[in-house]
Amino acid sequence: MFFLPEKFSFPADLEQALRLGLWRGNDPSEKELEKLGTQLRALWPKLAQERGFQPAGAAHYSFRREDAEAYAAYYLPANALKVALVLEESYLLGKDLLADPAIWLDVGTGPGTAYWGAAWWCSRRGKKLRFTGWDQSSLFTEKAREMTARNPLGQEAHFVAADKNSDSYFALVRKLAPTHLSFVNSLAEIYPEPEARHAALEKLSSLLRELTRKDGKERWVLLIEPGSRTSARELAATKDHLQNKGAAHLLLPCLDNRACGALANPKDWCHEEAACDFPAWLNQIGAVAGLRKESLLFSYALYSPAALPALFPDGKRIVSQRLERKGQVECRICTREGKQLVRVQHSKAHAENEFFLKSCRGEIWKSAAWEAKGDLLQAERVPPGKETIFS
Ligand SMILES: C[S@@+](CC[C@H](N)C(=O)[O-])C[C@H]1O[C@@H](n2cnc3c(N)ncnc32)[C@H](O)[C@@H]1O
Repeated sequence: MFFLPEKFSFPADLEQALRLGLWRGNDPSEKELEKLGTQLRALWPKLAQERGFQPAGAAHYSFRREDAEAYAAYYLPANALKVALVLEESYLLGKDLLADPAIWLDVGTGPGTAYWGAAWWCSRRGKKLRFTGWDQSSLFTEKAREMTARNPLGQEAHFVAADKNSDSYFALVRKLAPTHLSFVNSLAEIYPEPEARHAALEKLSSLLRELTRKDGKERWVLLIEPGSRTSARELAATKDHLQNKGAAHLLLPCLDNRACGALANPKDWCHEEAACDFPAWLNQIGAVAGLRKESLLFSYALYSPAALPALFPDGKRIVSQRLERKGQVECRICTREGKQLVRVQHSKAHAENEFFLKSCRGEIWKSAAWEAKGDLLQAERVPPGKETIFS
């Protein structure tokens, strides 16, 4: 994310709204946090190691009440912010995705996670949202309804549980004609096989384009997946596939229709990392489970099913952390030609490249020039940190 400070605080108004949803605004008791943490200890391997895939013969976590409660208290707050970060990035780059009131359909909504991120962002930016979350588990959709019943963020929320046909959200797409469609940590879980995943997204793109032909509205698809190597590489491959088929026109994080440079090396991957100070109660739940959350790690793709001009054609983006080596600073940047190592040696820093000594992952350059060994000469940067709601 090009605009973030080194670390931001979990937004106080969102935290308050979540406490209202989770605990009617009260501080959760020590006993309650202990119970959630104990449940989280059993839940996190199912998500992180087994990737949430449906285990043969055993009930999926989404159908177990204790798991759903622990999920809502621990994963929802962090995952919700990922949605808000993407909306904010697009907004600050001059593409307001909610210039008109949004009809948003979230597939695999869990306890309504995406609602909280989108609704918080909308309430801060003065936007209107009509949100529908769909999930296989009525336990999750009930939890989502319960949490949004007091409607602290003032946006419209509806939740629908699936029938036996897992593609039934297609009927909702036809009925609601959503302008925004999201899969937040749910795409690979719903479609473990890449071929099925790609086929579903291609079908969705043509359906969304058909809706646009009828009503003339812009449409957006947001895919968010974990930041792990496996998940991020799968998402990048999906993105490349959809792009090659003409089913996705990337707005972010990729700056035009280039192929993913990270896929050139089987050990490489591209992800976001946003350091955040989380609420004390979330840290306490994590501590009981032996987990520590210090940043939001995720991968994402935001695209239009219809053609659109790139925000920064041939732009470059820093896609690694800043490596401070002896005598020099280096980063990898994403270019149309693939990933490129760029550096500035302290002894060769000058007015046009010294900014790089403090550059961060996510930074965007409209243009840049470097020498054969990657020594940066100059870059035209998109200004970092301008008037963001994250601080
Ligand atoms: C990791 S959770 C993500 C929940 C939420 N979107 C978030 O980011 O916090 C994945 C969700 O996908 C749902 N899911 C998995 N397979 C599904 C299927 N075949 N049909 C519908 N929902 C499914 C699960 O019930 C679960 O709520």
